[in-house]
Amino acid sequence: MAEFTLPKNSKIKPGKTWPAPAGARRVKKFRVYRWDPDTKENPRLDTYEVDLDQCGPMVLDALIKIKNEIDATLTFRRSCREGVCGSCAMNIDGTNTLACTKYISDVKGDVPVYPLPHMDVVKDLVPDLTNAIAQLAAIEPWLKSKSPPPTRERLQSAEERSKLDGLWECILCFCCTTSCPSYWWNPDRYLGPAVLLQAYRWIADSRDEETGERLDQLEDPFRLYRCHTIMNCSNTCPKGLNPAKAIAETKKLMLARKG
Ligand code: SF4
Ligand code: SF4
Ligand code: FES
Repeated sequence: MAEFTLPKNSKIKPGKTWPAPAGARRVKKFRVYRWDPDTKENPRLDTYEVDLDQCGPMVLDALIKIKNEIDATLTFRRSCREGVCGSCAMNIDGTNTLACTKYISDVKGDVPVYPLPHMDVVKDLVPDLTNAIAQLAAIEPWLKSKSPPPTRERLQSAEERSKLDGLWECILCFCCTTSCPSYWWNPDRYLGPAVLLQAYRWIADSRDEETGERLDQLEDPFRLYRCHTIMNCSNTCPKGLNPAKAIAETKKLMLARKG
């Protein structure tokens, strides 16, 4: 039987512990993945004890407190703090989600915090999104029209506009893509649920006039059809969206145009 072992330098070692300040009464431990490309050291798991009486309610509040008051070397992305920019996506307590909308109180016991899975790591909690962003650019996520520009807005009926609901809300956090086993195995050839949802967002837009070309571009055994409807993507989306449905709708359109 084949045996698989992790490369020695990928094994996560125990890290440092940063104890809570004296007098703290409501202490929560955050076990945070740390990796610094500038050292030759293995990744490690640091433990930060945070006084919840002196901290906001979200996991991002704790990470910001750690960075500001305990350990300035901790590195993570964030911007809006309101669940709209997608930059604070990470794996918290075993689930891909947004640190800014994840309540600390929803995690029983210690809080494990890792970068999004199956991506290269730039540093600590920052995943390398280069490939995913290049895939997004490849589907050309903007309105494409062949007819002459109108003198005013391109109008849609209420019904046409409603077809974009459940699609326009995507914040491109890539929680779904990094939870998808098909993407784990074929990130170079399969586009993954976030990019496929974006592709469908333009296919479904009544104002876009390149639907056929967009479908042609997805007609490939890997780009679209590597989705095996495992549904991890829809279960993990922190915005409650359903990328698996968008993928299924795209496959239906593919079939319809063949029929
Ligand atoms: S439904 Fe498709 S895209 Fe979503 S997790 Fe499963 S294989 Fe990946
Ligand atoms: S579909 Fe959801 S999980 Fe996927 S990128 Fe968009 S917002 Fe994030
Ligand atoms: S900081 Fe923008 S989504 Fe969390």
